[in-house]
Amino acid sequence: MQRTLVIGHRGAPGHLPDHTLDGYRLAVRLGADVIEPDLVSTRDGVLVARHENELSASTDAAVRFPGRRAEKQVDGKVVAGWFVEDLTLAEVRTLRARQPMEGRPTQYDGTLGVPTFDEILAILPELERMAGRPIGIEPETKHPSYFRSIGLPIEPAMVASLRAHGRGEGRADVFVQSFEEDNLRMLRATTPLRLVQLVDTTEGERLSEAGLRRIAEYAHAVGAPKRLLIGDDGVDTGAVARIRAAGLAVHVWTFRNEPRYLPPWCGGDPAAELRRFYALGVDGVFSDFPDTAVAARP
Ligand code: G3P
Ligand code: CA
Repeated sequence: MQRTLVIGHRGAPGHLPDHTLDGYRLAVRLGADVIEPDLVSTRDGVLVARHENELSASTDAAVRFPGRRAEKQVDGKVVAGWFVEDLTLAEVRTLRARQPMEGRPTQYDGTLGVPTFDEILAILPELERMAGRPIGIEPETKHPSYFRSIGLPIEPAMVASLRAHGRGEGRADVFVQSFEEDNLRMLRATTPLRLVQLVDTTEGERLSEAGLRRIAEYAHAVGAPKRLLIGDDGVDTGAVARIRAAGLAVHVWTFRNEPRYLPPWCGGDPAAELRRFYALGVDGVFSDFPDTAVAARP
């Protein structure tokens, strides 16, 4: 069996603001095998990396564009703020990233820009030279139905960029994630890319035998939350065995060092949590602290 992949979740956001070129560089320097950009679209159809299409938590958009606040329905929820789809790429380029998570380093706030997907793909050769090994990429399509509904579909631009940078077909270290099923099925029909069906904490039934049979029709792997694999009581839910029996791989999210994110059964030790998941034989771990995930890996 292959060694579990350490996936730099949003880069290395335990140390640097998420989804920045320096964050991805740091992830690889700390030992990550794969980097994970979340993708959203600008008003002029350019893919950039952000966890949310609403930008005020992770950038200074509210200060730079005070008049551009809006309220929208996104995936059935009312969201207020500053939206990437309302800004052109030229406007997004003026933004500076900030650390959105409480208790994490803020000294780099205001120093790093928001990268395009093409810029991220373009640094992969540099990262591979630096690391002396191949580096994979695992983009996630964020709110794909919503972006399609406003005429800014993510998938065509994403696939074109992957191909343009030699990360398209036939690569075992390129994975495309989505919480939605329809866009993954559409991608399955049009590309041989490895697809990862993300499953939310509230969607445990998707990890039933029947649910997994359905996912196996189009996906290569499941992206599962930790708690659906090992419950808060510390007991293996059996989901990893079912995922394997369905012929799927499993990438697990999200490993973080801070005590508030650790399950009750690991004694407050992030390395102990990771070791338990490595022992389960998972194929990848999404980590905000790739250094911790690499150090704990057998
Ligand atoms: O993509 C894996 C995991 O990151 C999904 O959650 O919200 O961090 O993108 P999120
Ligand atoms: Ca993600």
